Amino acid sequence: KQIEIIGAPTAFGQRKLGVNFGPDALRYAGLIERIEDIGHEVIDKGNVESPELNMKKYKGEQEGLRNLDEVITFSNNLYEAVNETKERGNFPLILGGDHSLSIGSIAGISKHYENLGVIWYDAHGDLNTLDSSPSGNIHGMPLRALIGDGDEQLVNIGGYKNKVKPENIVLIGMRDLDDGEKQYIKEVGIHTYTMADIDKLGMDKVIHETIDYLKDKTDGIHLSLDVDALDPVETPGTGTTVPGGVTYRESHLAMELLHESKLIVSADLVEVNPLIDEYNKTAYQAIGLMGSFFGEKLL
Ligand code: ARG
Ligand code: MN
Ligand code: MN
Ligand code: MN
Repeated sequence: KQIEIIGAPTAFGQRKLGVNFGPDALRYAGLIERIEDIGHEVIDKGNVESPELNMKKYKGEQEGLRNLDEVITFSNNLYEAVNETKERGNFPLILGGDHSLSIGSIAGISKHYENLGVIWYDAHGDLNTLDSSPSGNIHGMPLRALIGDGDEQLVNIGGYKNKVKPENIVLIGMRDLDDGEKQYIKEVGIHTYTMADIDKLGMDKVIHETIDYLKDKTDGIHLSLDVDALDPVETPGTGTTVPGGVTYRESHLAMELLHESKLIVSADLVEVNPLIDEYNKTAYQAIGLMGSFFGEKLL
């Protein structure tokens, strides 16, 4: 089994340009060599094609879902690429790009599973619909679209809907939820670890509980890692920072335990924005975590 890197250079899910350079920021910081040094075979599939970015439209005000047409086109392109990786039996590692990309990536993955589990490691739930969104930004909506709510075209990327069941999701790192998201999480009972839960239980227990919760009812688990889950002191180069985040060390532990579980079948690494970063620090931090995620050991 090989690891296939798929660059997803989209900024259409939010308003800060530069996150579309995330995949190259991660490559230039040495992601591929880091994974190869562990002993894996890595294939870089390059970047998925993105629709043209019209600067005036991008910077301007819009009604409804921001850049909806571009997000749909991009999602279809990414869906195709990820689906092909899964058809080859390889492990897709998708590099973002803003978190709207998970609509396409998980569409390409869930097709290959009856009951895909999803770990959403993020400061945010990304469970908005247009009605509950404070921003109209689609990067705040992907998980909800994957469950099956929202714009019909987004919900049906890949030609099918209901990609993820709410009971197969675990949220970790939550500390900024909009009112509609809080209500929805309670209503459907999504398994959630807030920062308060992480403080109380410790990351070791959080991940062990997560694995126990998902392992029997799912046939594969996808990790969606938004770098804003970490504290902005560690990962400043991301568009929607929230203070009081998960530390680099806690995140290493989480990645090591997920590696040991052998249950993870694919991953997104998203919201790396080198244009608002400190000398590409966020990419370097993310690469360190990918080392642990793919089985790096000190001794
Ligand atoms: N909840 C906010 C919104 O809907 C922020 C979402 C941030 N999402 C992210 N993937 N960073 O706009
Ligand atoms: Mn996110
Ligand atoms: Mn499925
Ligand atoms: Mn986030």
